[in-house]
Amino acid sequence: MFIVFLILLFGFLALLVYYYFLIQQRYQYFNQRGIATPPFNFFFGHLKTVWNHPSHHRQLENWTKQYGKIYGIYEGTHPILVVSDPDFLQEVFIKQFSVFHTRLVTMLDDVSSNLGFSTGSKWRRQRHVINPSFTAVKLKAMSPLINGSINDLMDKLLEHSNIGDEFNIYLYYKRVTMDVICRCAFGVDIDLQNNPNHIYFQKVEELIGVHTILKSPIYKMTQLVPETRSILARLYLAHNTARKYINTRVLPLISSTKQLDESAFAWLLNRLHTIVEQRQKTPISRKDLLQLMLQAMNKEPNQNTAEDDNKTNHWLSKDEVIGNTVAFMVAGYETTSTALAYATYVLAKHPDVLKKLQDEIDQLPIDNDDNTNDEKIKEYPNYDTVTHLSYMDMFISEVLRMYPIGNFTLQRCAMENTVVQGINIEKGTTVYADIYSIHYDRELWGPDDPYIFLPERHKTKRHPMAFMAFGAGPRNCIGMRFALIEIKMLLTRLLREYTILPGEHLEIRFQIVARKLRNTRVLPLISSTKQLDESAFAWLLNRLHTIVEQRQKTPISRKDLLQLMLQAMNKEPNQNTAEDDNKTNHWLSKDEVIGNTVAFMVAGYETTSTALAYATYVLAKHPDVLKKLQDEIDQLPIDSDDNTNDEKIKEYPNYDTVTHLSYMDMFISEVLRMYPIGNFTLQRCAMENTVVQGINIEKGTTVYADIYSIHYDRELWGPDDPYIFLPERHKTKRHPMAFMAFGAGPRNCVGMRFALIEIKMLLTRLLQEYTILPGEHLESNFNIHEEIAIVPEAIWIKLLKRET
Ligand code: HEM
Repeated sequence: MFIVFLILLFGFLALLVYYYFLIQQRYQYFNQRGIATPPFNFFFGHLKTVWNHPSHHRQLENWTKQYGKIYGIYEGTHPILVVSDPDFLQEVFIKQFSVFHTRLVTMLDDVSSNLGFSTGSKWRRQRHVINPSFTAVKLKAMSPLINGSINDLMDKLLEHSNIGDEFNIYLYYKRVTMDVICRCAFGVDIDLQNNPNHIYFQKVEELIGVHTILKSPIYKMTQLVPETRSILARLYLAHNTARKYINTRVLPLISSTKQLDESAFAWLLNRLHTIVEQRQKTPISRKDLLQLMLQAMNKEPNQNTAEDDNKTNHWLSKDEVIGNTVAFMVAGYETTSTALAYATYVLAKHPDVLKKLQDEIDQLPIDNDDNTNDEKIKEYPNYDTVTHLSYMDMFISEVLRMYPIGNFTLQRCAMENTVVQGINIEKGTTVYADIYSIHYDRELWGPDDPYIFLPERHKTKRHPMAFMAFGAGPRNCIGMRFALIEIKMLLTRLLREYTILPGEHLEIRFQIVARKLRNTRVLPLISSTKQLDESAFAWLLNRLHTIVEQRQKTPISRKDLLQLMLQAMNKEPNQNTAEDDNKTNHWLSKDEVIGNTVAFMVAGYETTSTALAYATYVLAKHPDVLKKLQDEIDQLPIDSDDNTNDEKIKEYPNYDTVTHLSYMDMFISEVLRMYPIGNFTLQRCAMENTVVQGINIEKGTTVYADIYSIHYDRELWGPDDPYIFLPERHKTKRHPMAFMAFGAGPRNCVGMRFALIEIKMLLTRLLQEYTILPGEHLESNFNIHEEIAIVPEAIWIKLLKRET
């Protein structure tokens, strides 16, 4: 036995030694070729530096300054050539494309079938099938869809311009580009401008945000030990499949609400699976990208007969259709909205450029768009109109030269041994284009300083690899024409009506504030970019600081909470005189005013909206309860609200009216009993040693209230089963601590009455006009999870207008 153990141990050690020497040998790659490489760590290579730097490409640019136009780095042990020599790149991206037709193979290739990650013939076939989706004819047909989404954006901008406030336009750009891609890619109208928390948007944000798979430990492991790639990808897929199975097959048997979290990626794939299946069952005639791909899917070649090559090449599998639709959602939304944000930032800084653009736009002919029957959309700038904008073209190119976006994808992997400009490149080596160094290279972009924004520099013919914002060669960005048309149509409409001016914080916070300029063009706007992100908390504190200062400078008579706190702030006691206790106790510091306003924003928004969401969920499930509520509401007296001069608002249910709703009161209590929200705060810490019911409690000990156990306790809430929704149970007097949704005692929720009035007024108006019906996804997407509050994922319902 001992001998077996020794042999195993020896074998293991020998393997380790072998692996050590293998790694050492791999690290000779650049040395042997005389290529410079920055210092690196054993096993990690340069990954630690890359992971820890906020911008991958800024890090590459820094190294290029030190090590020249061609140098090497190691991703783990994998050799990567970082290049900013345009001739070398032309060789790799274009002339030797047959060798370099693939990006570095990662676990994403095993996880999703789409253009971006796939390799070899799989990529070629998909590209061949999808390319025609982006021809001029197809894009023309999509332009009314784009204009429809721009209309929604323009409505929102008008609201801001009427108020004259400061706001973040990047958010609106994100919404419009997501709207456009959902309409054009798979024919779903999500109306994000009016529905900003749409689940698709959240999931895509999650997919590309902090939870992106690229930052996950599993992905990093595959970077360090590429040999684990396939197995970890399979594990990842199996894990998602298991969760889906449990969510759809197992949990519904146990509970109607509990669901396991799916990763955003898996969630999107599953959702699109359903859409594709629906489209297959009931085909519709839409000119979207999904439709074009579905046509290719139906042409699946018969494996048993000798199909001609053309047919085999014109086919997409179902997984590819789904994978590419997700890819379009991700690639088509984030890139285009960010390009628009940078464009807005530049326009705010360069009024001369803005003026030239507006002059060009004002000269545009008004073409009638024949691709739509909508008379309003017919007259907006369409595909044909915006092709006349030569200055706009140069402007967008200059924006993307100075602020390139899709840099991570600018890479090619050698699929055979080859030689490029005298350098031996082994199969498997990857070449990264260092886009910042290229886009700011004086030799490529001079004689004018490349750090100056100058659209006219694009009049001069440059090296074919000088501009790489959309990549280069046969594997460049497939959505380029789509993105450019969208950006041009949007900017044309925006600049026709508005002028963008810089705000005070433009440089510090990348924000632009509105000021009126011309009669017809007033624009308020802001573009925020990722580089200078503040934490949300710091951002809110700073913003409120400004508001408080403005209010102090120019007091206004408003009956809001801030005003009440400001009055208290003005009563600051004089430290040098003996103020009476009453005055000292009625004072708030400026930081307290600001801090409490933030607290009200957070506590007052998430909790109340969640309570409303749960209430709606319950109403969709219990038509009998809904009916009782509506009957009660229909009996309401119509009080006239004396607190407003607005004649319309006067007649809506107000504070006094909704105090008559006793069934509503019980209903809300029952909702919050079954779905308590703010549980995290239900705790008290002993500030002295004490004894509670015979238990010695030391100073510093915390007591948590277990609200779920209390709210579902049969002794406290019986005799009816506490798991049944029954508003009437609140008629019975219960233990004073049986209901803890708003906490208890002197430190209970200070906003309780505010929240209850808001919920009652809103539900009253909603139910006066509508009946709530369950949507198909009501149960499957309810998914309660806990963040700071305990929240549902989504409430899918239908509304039925009531007869008046
Ligand atoms: C301003 C907007 C956009 C920018 C700056 C951008 C940039 C890029 C870049 C740099 C690449 C890599 C090209 C290469 O390796 O040579 C790429 C690839 C790609 N882009 Fe875009 N993109 C934009 C918009 C879009 C849109 C709207 C879509 C889809 C509707 C899209 C879909 C894709 C796809 C699928 C690929 C992979 C192509 C392949 O591997 O064959 N992109 N993009």
